[in-house]
Amino acid sequence: MSPPILLTRPADAPRQDLDAYRAAGGYEALRAAVAGDPGDVLRAVDESGLLGRGGAAFPAAVKWKLAAAQDAEVKHVVANGGEHEPGSEKDKFLVARYPHAVLEGMALCALATGATRGWVYLIEDMAEQIAAVEVALEEARAAGLVGERVLGSEFSFEVSIHRAPTTYVAGEESAAIDSIEGGPGKPKKKPPYPGEAGIHGQPTTVNNVETLAHVAWIVRNGPDAYRAIGTPDSPGTMLFTLGDRFVKPGVVEAPFGTTWRQLFEEHGGGLESGRAVRAIQPAMSCGFLTAEHLDVGIAHETLRPLGSSPGCGGIRVVEEGEDVLPVLVGIAQFFMDEQCGQCPPCRMETNQFAHVLKGVQAGKGGAGYAEPIRKVAAFARRKGHCSLIEMAAAPILSALDVFAEDLAAAAGA
Ligand SMILES: Cc1cc2nc3c(=O)[nH]c(=O)nc-3n(C[C@H](O)[C@H](O)[C@H](O)COP(=O)(O)O)c2cc1C
Repeated sequence: MSPPILLTRPADAPRQDLDAYRAAGGYEALRAAVAGDPGDVLRAVDESGLLGRGGAAFPAAVKWKLAAAQDAEVKHVVANGGEHEPGSEKDKFLVARYPHAVLEGMALCALATGATRGWVYLIEDMAEQIAAVEVALEEARAAGLVGERVLGSEFSFEVSIHRAPTTYVAGEESAAIDSIEGGPGKPKKKPPYPGEAGIHGQPTTVNNVETLAHVAWIVRNGPDAYRAIGTPDSPGTMLFTLGDRFVKPGVVEAPFGTTWRQLFEEHGGGLESGRAVRAIQPAMSCGFLTAEHLDVGIAHETLRPLGSSPGCGGIRVVEEGEDVLPVLVGIAQFFMDEQCGQCPPCRMETNQFAHVLKGVQAGKGGAGYAEPIRKVAAFARRKGHCSLIEMAAAPILSALDVFAEDLAAAAGA
């Protein structure tokens, strides 16, 4: 078992204050980086193979290089902690308990990309997380780690907390930028990408808070040490949220390559009900896996061919004997309620999914229930300002196969 990178303290430990973070090696990476070549930070992140932990697994260094290549007086870094996906608690846990790991990651990203402005992007009702970051920022400012001339160097970095509206789409990167600019927090059409033109048209790197929290460890220990953990194509560790169905619920850290069975049994203590796992959904917007996949190592390259992905690790489990219709209707309803209304194909798709699945649940689906689902998903694909269309379709399309018998029986097919 590899050592933890992020969750280095007992699960019930309070917020890691500046002294505790420093005692564990915190801010050593920043100290070395401000005295050295900022290009070294970018090289370390590139060589580490760090993938975004917000769900899409985009290589962090690709984004950072885009922002670094822009010629602009002001650039920004956004740490996205707007976690709103049902079943996912890892970002809230990380920000509340390890705020300095996020802040140091932001500062290193700013140094590497040439940014001077940072935003910790949280949701307005995240009182615990807002308070944790406020205190951490005060500590960091007093110690010269944030603000003018960080640690006496030429590098200055101002950080603010942004309180975003409580909506799912506000976590999407262009929606986050829109909210920071004072807008309603709705996704925008791309390109331009945030790295080219983000906040007020200035280059902006948006990363998930967990992605950023890996960075100081990578810079301190080197990319090879990071790559020694996890799998070749999914380096490092990942945070997972085990919900209340587990004997030991909570946020856990495990290296990529850990199997679902290990995660559920060794970390989660098994299911509270004692029933067997029938299906696994790595997160709300991911395709379903089945009990056959319990011994598959969790990694992007292993789950992609199975029509799924590790997502943001907000794990959902369907138990043997459980009625799947409420689960599927719940997913469809969530995406229908949370789509922002801007893109007609997204409105159409999410409404159609909910309509058809509610019909099936009511015994009125008939033999052709799957066809309108497949048709609308194929039509709407890639036609939105953001990827909510694909996120809503992944679980529902996979459910047509994984739960074909349940759906046919309910539909009266
Ligand atoms: C509808 C929607 C909601 C999203 N919500 C979040 C979120 O709450 N937190 C997050 O980090 N990324 C979220 N994302 C992904 C972001 O757009 C973006 O890819 C991410 O913040 C980039 O960070 P990463 O590359 O470090 O993963 C969302 C995307 C979509 C389409």
